[in-house]
Amino acid sequence: MSQNKSSEVIDKKLAAPVRFRRVRDKEIRVSLPDVGYIEADIAKEDKELHIREFEVREDKRNLGVGRRLLKSLAVIAKDEGIEKITGDVIDPTALSLRQKVYGDDGLHIYDADRRPLQELPITIDKAIESIQRADKAYDEHPNPNFGTDFYVVSDITDLDVTDWERPAEK
Ligand SMILES: CC(C)(COP(=O)(O)OP(=O)(O)OC[C@H]1O[C@@H](n2cnc3c(N)ncnc32)[C@H](O)[C@@H]1OP(=O)(O)O)[C@@H](O)C(=O)NCCC(=O)NCCS
Repeated sequence: MSQNKSSEVIDKKLAAPVRFRRVRDKEIRVSLPDVGYIEADIAKEDKELHIREFEVREDKRNLGVGRRLLKSLAVIAKDEGIEKITGDVIDPTALSLRQKVYGDDGLHIYDADRRPLQELPITIDKAIESIQRADKAYDEHPNPNFGTDFYVVSDITDLDVTDWERPAEK
């Protein structure tokens, strides 16, 4: 009985609308309350939104919440005149989602540890493989200098967000 009740509560959380909040014209926070959120910094002069945090509660992953959050972020970004969504990506799921949601056409991958940035001539699949290899190497020989970190840019200028969930401002 109590288990049914708690799963009803969880389902209600998943069925809730995505919300967004602007923080001092500098930051956008998109969230599904108690489930997941994205925090992104606005660089208006560069027409860029930089994802700083992207997380879904562990027991609610792979249910489409991350996809919803990325879509809602793009709807708000378009309203703000943003042309590029960027971010350091260290997680295979996040990397593949960036491609699935924002598309292949405007997607550019860079080595996050190098400045000036140089675009890498690799496919998303190769980037995911290399993160997985680095994770495995880290598990075998933990070393803080290990890791593969990509800087990903999605050009959303031509992205059609007409039918995507428009988050409510809260
Ligand atoms: C990244 C994260 C936010 C995604 O949230 P989510 O709610 O699980 O995402 P979704 O359910 O919308 O989508 C997951 C997708 O990734 C796919 N996926 C799962 N594991 C994967 C993997 N190892 N490699 C590639 N794709 C993977 C799923 O099949 C699904 O794709 P689909 O929608 O086409 O079926 C979540 O995994 C998370 O919080 N991770 C920990 C924090 C983190 O690493 N954040 C990103 C920092 S760069």
